[in-house]
Amino acid sequence: MLEILKYPNTRLREISKPVEAFDSDLHEYLDELAKAMYSQNGIGLAAPQVGTLNRLFVIDVTPQLEEGDPNRKRYEFINPVLSDGAGKTAIEEACLSVPGIVEKVSRKEEISIQYQDRNGKQRQLRASGILSVAIQHENDHLDGILFIDRLSPLKRKLVKRRLKRDLQL
Ligand code: CO
Repeated sequence: MLEILKYPNTRLREISKPVEAFDSDLHEYLDELAKAMYSQNGIGLAAPQVGTLNRLFVIDVTPQLEEGDPNRKRYEFINPVLSDGAGKTAIEEACLSVPGIVEKVSRKEEISIQYQDRNGKQRQLRASGILSVAIQHENDHLDGILFIDRLSPLKRKLVKRRLKRDLQL
């Protein structure tokens, strides 16, 4: 099982590089990433969270549905580019790399995402609600940004103090 890196690991702060090879190694890696996400009851996981600096992430905002349910949807976004953000939302977010912290983060309500699928095919999606928020959260990871960075300065200070205590840093 892939190991999920935790704050304040400096690898989480690096900028990931575009994916160039859409081969069986990539497919295997995407499956491993999804497996790690499900094992920790996450709804999204980005490559840098397991220490590999590739511009990709997996998302499944329907983990409560049974395997095989037609409404179950696992997304794989490779080399994503976000655009056309509209509206505002703030829902409680958590992150497998920032254990124990749940905070509301200000985000766009809707966004468009251009990306490649596991075979390198260009695709586009307009997302809203929790999927939109998950995409923005995971996309931040590719640029070394954590959701706690997007909190107000005061909140961020409190959260960092709590992490320092809980993780015994
Ligand atoms: Co995260």
